[in-house]
Amino acid sequence: MKNISAVIALAAVLLGIGWLTYSSRDVAPDLAPFFPTPMSIVGEMLKMADVKSTDVVYDLGCGDGRIVIAAAADFGARGVGVEYDPEVAQRAIDNVSKRNVDDLVDIVIGDATKVDVSPASVVTLYLLPDTIAAVRPRLEELLKTGTRVVSHNAEMPGWKTVSVQTINDDDGRVHKLYLYEIGKQ
Ligand SMILES: C[S@@+](CC[C@H](N)C(=O)[O-])C[C@H]1O[C@@H](n2cnc3c(N)ncnc32)[C@H](O)[C@@H]1O
Repeated sequence: MKNISAVIALAAVLLGIGWLTYSSRDVAPDLAPFFPTPMSIVGEMLKMADVKSTDVVYDLGCGDGRIVIAAAADFGARGVGVEYDPEVAQRAIDNVSKRNVDDLVDIVIGDATKVDVSPASVVTLYLLPDTIAAVRPRLEELLKTGTRVVSHNAEMPGWKTVSVQTINDDDGRVHKLYLYEIGKQ
């Protein structure tokens, strides 16, 4: 009987440790579903940020990679796309190869709230109005003064815009773009 009690006690301790380990594990927050920016709006976002070949463009939650691919293919910029869904990220990796921009673009499978964004000179975002603030601490901590941040359809709470644009896509849907600059936000 004593042995059985000891085994039950040990099992309970091990289960407790297992649960604590599981519940304290880093789980990436779901910041938005995969819903791509129309290509005409991608072009406007990159123009709004005044992307040049000397820029390093980070797209946090990059989906199929279209923004960083366009930054590389159309402006000659370096691009880093961060995507936490491995299947969506694989689509981005395949698209990078198809568009022959492997030398300029990296796709990182990871959490946009944890990634090192310090090399960025431009950051693009298409997240939700109620989740976008999750990336703000990282941006405020790591981005250099002068880095431009362009957000599609979601304002960064607490930041002041440099400019705002409202544009229609080819299907007549309205998109709002918010441009920020680190140091002026
Ligand atoms: C609205 S889509 C935007 C895709 C792309 N940036 C565009 O504009 O076409 C948002 C993307 O963020 C990804 N995502 C959501 N939460 C994330 C997280 N914590 N870390 C990285 N990616 C995330 C989703 O899987 C999705 O592909």
